[in-house]
Amino acid sequence: MSNIEKSDLINTNSPRDSRVYADGKYVIKAPVATNPVHIKVWLERQKHAKFVVDSIIEKNGNAEYFIPKIIEISEQPFIKEERVSGQPITSEYFAGLSSQQKDIIYNSLAKFISDMNQNLPVLDITSQLYSNDTQDISFFDVLESLKSVLSQKEISIINQSYELLEKYKDQTPSFVFFHGDMNENNIFFDDKTNKVSIIDFTEARYESAYYMFNSDLSRLPWLDLNKIIDIYNKNPKEQPVKTGQNKAVIEIFNGLRTIQRTGNSLMKNSKTANIYLIILKETIRALEKSCQSVNNSMLLANIPTNFR
Ligand SMILES: Nc1ncnc2c1ncn2[C@@H]1O[C@H](COP(=O)(O)OP(=O)(O)O)[C@@H](O)[C@H]1O
Ligand SMILES: [Mg+2]
Repeated sequence: MSNIEKSDLINTNSPRDSRVYADGKYVIKAPVATNPVHIKVWLERQKHAKFVVDSIIEKNGNAEYFIPKIIEISEQPFIKEERVSGQPITSEYFAGLSSQQKDIIYNSLAKFISDMNQNLPVLDITSQLYSNDTQDISFFDVLESLKSVLSQKEISIINQSYELLEKYKDQTPSFVFFHGDMNENNIFFDDKTNKVSIIDFTEARYESAYYMFNSDLSRLPWLDLNKIIDIYNKNPKEQPVKTGQNKAVIEIFNGLRTIQRTGNSLMKNSKTANIYLIILKETIRALEKSCQSVNNSMLLANIPTNFR
């Protein structure tokens, strides 16, 4: 790293996490943090990114978009990565491109999103209730142990909510693996080669396919969400992906997840059990309302399967 000059700093964002320096065809990234604990976290995030990037490159080698390889991760600490060409797609930059180039950007992005989603199993959002990937206990085990602290009526509201969620599961989005940080400075376009590049996979994770479009990708001011969702939905897929959601049904899911998490905390921290119990009861009251609104909305309207 010794031949790198401070003047070679090429961040297009204001460096909060990483300082990025040009090094010929490569870039060198170093953490902004100086605290050893934070540096360790930074390195872990880079290792996660490398794992994700390697698997995309392996599966989607000659794709219509470019993902820079991470060449080296050094405990020094720094990483060496291929340098991408072009510039971040800001609204002004996008506005000045030809309609053909705009189409290339939309198609490349839709393909990229789809590839990332398809490279790992596409799950149902409700699979999180079973999930044991954190140290968390499943929703069903939590419910079993809550029987000693909640009333029968409260337990039956929870059961009824779960049944409704199962019944209208087709109106919840899929749970897919995605980039997780699609901000302006992580998507580059080179108007000479017409190539889109995507960088910064430190936050790649599973998320709701609805959230992926309507929250993560909604941070790109130039992006027409309906258009990208349309192109994405038309892309052929081995594993189908549901991108829409019924608001009332997803409220039930969120309530059940809160019960799962809060129940977990309650079981682990007996000292603060009272606070968790208050949250649980509050959540159950909200769930009761959500169940009513699901029942009402299903009565009122024959909600079409394409509920977006
Ligand atoms: N491979 C690369 N090629 C060219 N520029 C890059 C590359 N990686 C990062 N940069 C520049 O540095 C900025 C910050 O790097 P990034 O990996 O996104 O870290 P952060 O976590 O700080 O957002 C990017 O927004 C981009 O401007
Ligand atoms: Mg970034």
